Amino acid sequence: MSEQLYIPASATKTEKYESLIPQIKALCNGETDLIANLANISAALHQTFSWLWTGFYLVNENELVLGPFQGPVACTRIKFGRGVCGTAWKEKRSLLVPDVEQFPGHIACSSLSVSEIVVPLLNKTGDVFGIIDVDSKEFGILDEVDIKYLEEISGFVKEISEIE
Ligand code: SME
Repeated sequence: MSEQLYIPASATKTEKYESLIPQIKALCNGETDLIANLANISAALHQTFSWLWTGFYLVNENELVLGPFQGPVACTRIKFGRGVCGTAWKEKRSLLVPDVEQFPGHIACSSLSVSEIVVPLLNKTGDVFGIIDVDSKEFGILDEVDIKYLEEISGFVKEISEIE
């Protein structure tokens, strides 16, 4: 396993993801512990894109509980249907929120966060077992390209996850 990422600094966003995803797969290769893999995935994404916050919440009964992440401290529990994260869980779909002020019920873990993407993690039976959450402190940074590749990463997590 390589312990360093190689992402060309001048690459476009698409090129960065195309370079990063195989490296994420290599980082997780041979490791079956979900938390260890999510920890490295959050670090790899955060290091590559310099977002404000990059991480995971995992379903525990009727709540999402904070999982591996990079960035400022965050709220630990989010109820089903609450905030952007709980809504993506409830609606079982990715949400792109260009301006968090416009999202009713948005949970402000950091006042610096202005836009957000949440992508569900599905288990092998198609149930949501967690979410990927990305926060930006700048407008216009997060878009459909991020959704596309974060969904690809979610699909990879489904492949390596043992959760039924
Ligand atoms: N803003 C999220 C809460 C999680 S933090 O951004 C890390 C939400 O509204 O669900």
